[in-house]
Amino acid sequence: MEIINRRQRMNSVSRKVRRELDQTMGLVPTMGALHEGHLSLVREARRMCDIVIVSVFVNPAQFGPQEDFTRYPRDLTKDTMALSDYSVDYIFAPPVEEMYPKNFSTYVTVEGLSEQLEGAARPGHFRGVATVLTVLFNIVRPDFAFFGQKDAQQTIVVRRLVRDLACDTEIVVLPTVREESGLALSSRNAYLDKDERRAASVIYRALEHAEAAFLSGERNAKKIAEAVRVQIEAEPRARLEYVGVNDAETLDKLERLDDRPAIVSVAAYFGKTRLIDNIILNRVRSGATGRLA
Ligand code: PAJ
Repeated sequence: MEIINRRQRMNSVSRKVRRELDQTMGLVPTMGALHEGHLSLVREARRMCDIVIVSVFVNPAQFGPQEDFTRYPRDLTKDTMALSDYSVDYIFAPPVEEMYPKNFSTYVTVEGLSEQLEGAARPGHFRGVATVLTVLFNIVRPDFAFFGQKDAQQTIVVRRLVRDLACDTEIVVLPTVREESGLALSSRNAYLDKDERRAASVIYRALEHAEAAFLSGERNAKKIAEAVRVQIEAEPRARLEYVGVNDAETLDKLERLDDRPAIVSVAAYFGKTRLIDNIILNRVRSGATGRLA
C-alpha cells in the first residue's frame, strides 16, 4: 500500500495501471475517519477491481462557513491501519493545495438536483462535492467509483454528474451500514455523547415506520412524512430539520407514491451534531439491509 500526496504522482500511477498493466481501477472517495460504512465500499471495490484506491480528503469546498470543517476528525495513521486489512493498493491523501491549487476557479454545479433537501439546508454543499469529485475523477480516472446509500442525494448528484460530463467512470452504490440500534454509521457519530447516540436511533425507527406504512398500502407522501416527523419529534433530544419524500431519481417532491422508487430522507440534530439518513421505498432491486450483526 502506497500513500500518495501529489496529484501528479496519482495521475502517473493511474496512467500506468490503465495503459501498461491494463487493469481495472476502483476509487473509494472518502473524507477519512473511516468506519465500517466506508470499509464496506472498500470491500466491494476489492472484489470488483484489480487496483483499489481510497482517497482521504476533507474537502473544504463542501462545508458551509458555520459547519464543522476545522473540527472534522482527521487521523490518517488510524485510517491507514483500518485499510491495511483490505489489500488497498493506494491511499490518495492530498493536502488542500494539491486539490485546489492557487487561483483555482472552476466549479461544477449539478443544477436542480443540488438545490433540494441537503442542498437547501447546506447551500453550496453539492457544488463542493461535484467539484472535488470531478477533480478526483480526472486525477484517478477510475473505472468504478463506490458510494454509500447513506448519502442518497450525493449518489443521485454524482450519477448525473458522470452522465452529463461523460466521465468514463461507473458509479456503484452500496447499502447503508448500520449499528445494531439501526443508527447509520457516520464519522459524525463521534461527536455524539452517550445519550445523544442512544436517542439518534429514533431516525431509523421512524424510517422503518414509514416503510411499514408504505408496505401496508399508504401512498400519501404527506402522511408518510408526518408519521416520520411525529416519531422523531417525540424524542426530546432530537431536533428535526426536515423530512422529505422524493422521487429517487429526479428528487422531485412527491405528493403521492406510485410504482417508482421513492426516497424518504431525514436530517436531524442531536445536540450540536447534524445527522442524515434515508430509506428507499419501492426499490427496484432488493438490497441487503447492511445492518451490523
Ligand atoms: P464521507 O462522508 O467520508 O463518505 C465517504 C463514502 O462513504 C460516501 O460514499 C458515503 O455515502 C459512504 N458512507 C458513509 N457512511 C456510510 C454507511 N453508514 N454505510 C455505507 N456507506 C457509507 O461522502 C463523502 O465523504 C464526501 O462527500 C466525498 C464523496 C468523499 C466527497 O468529498
